Amino acid sequence: MATYPASSERYTKPAIFFHWGIFLLVALAYLAIEVRGPKGTDSRVFWSNVHFWAGSLVLALSVLRLLWRLWQGAPADIDSNALLSFLSRIVHLALYLFIFVQPLLGILMINTGGHPVTLAGANLQITLVGPDPVARKFFHDAHELIGNLFYWVIGLHALAAIGHHLVLRDNTLRRMI
Ligand code: HEM
Ligand code: HEM
Repeated sequence: MATYPASSERYTKPAIFFHWGIFLLVALAYLAIEVRGPKGTDSRVFWSNVHFWAGSLVLALSVLRLLWRLWQGAPADIDSNALLSFLSRIVHLALYLFIFVQPLLGILMINTGGHPVTLAGANLQITLVGPDPVARKFFHDAHELIGNLFYWVIGLHALAAIGHHLVLRDNTLRRMI
């Protein structure tokens, strides 16, 4: 069997599916919040439902993604530069944490507000904890802070990928496609 240098290794098909599927759902969750409109409107209800669906699916896919990652691993680093490799690992770790923590905070925010999370159209209600106004404020503020912070982290990650492709002209982006 042929052997390949580390830099020509690719992500597996399921890893690629999870990466871009979760990316699209996160983008949809952000979009839904941006366009939801004022309280009391049909638009607000519709887009909030889209937000809950997209965010909950992120969490479900992230569990499968993590299991797959632990089972199959990832291709070897491309960067020859130790500092860049280290930074990219920190950003990847932060992104993995984000796709678990952000949806969980959303669910906990709604539950501690005294409601189950209802996914419209599916006969599914999620209740992890009971009402707790003090905790609700914490989960709300954390969800808002992390949501706003990760616009930047995701942007940095995307810029790095595009920079690898256009400036360093290596395989980083291609092996995730
Ligand atoms: C990756 C998934 C998610 C992302 C990226 C995300 C992001 C955001 C962002 C950016 C906001 C606006 C914060 C602000 O006011 O500036 C928000 C609000 C909100 N999110 Fe999420 N969210 C996600 C998942 C969820 C989930 C799973 C739920 C619940 C099932 C949820 C429930 C809410 C609620 C209720 C609000 C409105 C809070 C308010 O207006 O007071 N989110 N989310
Ligand atoms: C919600 C948005 C995103 C999240 C949560 C995310 C998350 C991640 C994570 C956790 C990894 C590490 C994979 C692993 O080692 O198992 C990764 C790798 C990667 N991502 Fe993203 N990503 C997002 C958006 C993007 C975008 C927009 C691009 C491109 C423009 C991109 C390009 C890449 C590439 C090329 C890799 C492979 C890096 C390498 O081989 O070292 N990602 N992403």
